[in-house]
Amino acid sequence: MALVGSGSAVPAFAVSNTRLSERVDTSDDWIRSRTGIAERRICGPDEPLTPLATRAAEAALAHAGWQAEDLDLILMATSSPDDLFGTAPRVQGALGAKHAVAFDLTAACSGFLFALITAGQYLRSGAMRRALVIGADQLSRWVDWDDRTTCVLFGDGAAAVAVEACPAEADGLLGFRMRSDGTRNGCLTLAQTERHHSVLSGVDAQIGGFAPLRMNGQEVYKFAVREVPAVLKELLESTGTDPGALNWLLLHQANQRILDAVADRFAIPHERVLSNLASYGNTSAATIPLMLDEAVKDGRIQPGDLIASSGFGAGLSWGGALLRWSGPQAAAA
Ligand code: ACO
Repeated sequence: MALVGSGSAVPAFAVSNTRLSERVDTSDDWIRSRTGIAERRICGPDEPLTPLATRAAEAALAHAGWQAEDLDLILMATSSPDDLFGTAPRVQGALGAKHAVAFDLTAACSGFLFALITAGQYLRSGAMRRALVIGADQLSRWVDWDDRTTCVLFGDGAAAVAVEACPAEADGLLGFRMRSDGTRNGCLTLAQTERHHSVLSGVDAQIGGFAPLRMNGQEVYKFAVREVPAVLKELLESTGTDPGALNWLLLHQANQRILDAVADRFAIPHERVLSNLASYGNTSAATIPLMLDEAVKDGRIQPGDLIASSGFGAGLSWGGALLRWSGPQAAAA
């Protein structure tokens, strides 16, 4: 699987830390020093996820030099769909990608990494040739805006990566690991509410609806600084990769302190740790491709660069992938 194009889209409206302190008892200083976040983008009342994800997808297609009709697969990682039956088909319809099968994949902040690895299996098997992997979330729908411990962390965004089948020697997915631990699910949930109603005499049914996002921040922090280095260590060892050979560390953007802790664990200089937390906060499934696209477009990530990536979050779920960026010139003629 070669990574040949990227694109992203964020809502226009930015909310600063100071603005949030109008609503909850917080401060710019607290949020910056604890997380590295300065502002986040929020979708307005008439901005659902589908158009945002579609813009990101169109940008990735343009970057790869592809037409929508070229696509065999659209895999959309999201935990905040416009439609619980699937948002990817809406994106497929909006793009006019009439030959592509499109479906959602839910794994919270690990979603993009899991989706990228999943798409890679279809491409490597020869079943498919071209795919678009989208990470898109609109958690502003689901945070409790009166809970200062969570509402300051999240933002909305979408980003996509174009990937295609390639000869084994050009494969940009050099290794991966994926993990889940449902016994720790309660640390971070966006769960179905426990409400029911009477449908018929003696027949009760549940009422659909989800509770706001709830998180035990300290537990998730401890989980991240323990499991992310462990999974990356396994990945680097299994691929015979020296951390010094990495051009970039591209982690899920949840907290600058987590990024720094992981980098220190491998003695990776902080200038090789990609971060755009200050501008966007935690956009869940979108953080990794959003950061990738920014660094590709501003020239930091160059064709051939070696990238260690890790996603982690609710589930609990986490994983790592060793990637080599190809860039659009590698798109098959
Ligand atoms: N403003 C001001 N004070 C606050 C705020 C806030 N926004 N939030 C919490 N506090 C207070 C707390 O009430 C507490 O006060 P107390 O000491 O009087 O009780 C104090 O600050 C310290 O709270 P902690 O929870 O200990 O703060 P901590 O340093 O752990 O930082 C944070 C909290 C930023 C949430 C951190 O724990 C963290 O980043 N956790 C990981 C989150 C994460 O990685 N999520 C990724 C997955 S997301 C997904 O999958 C969707």
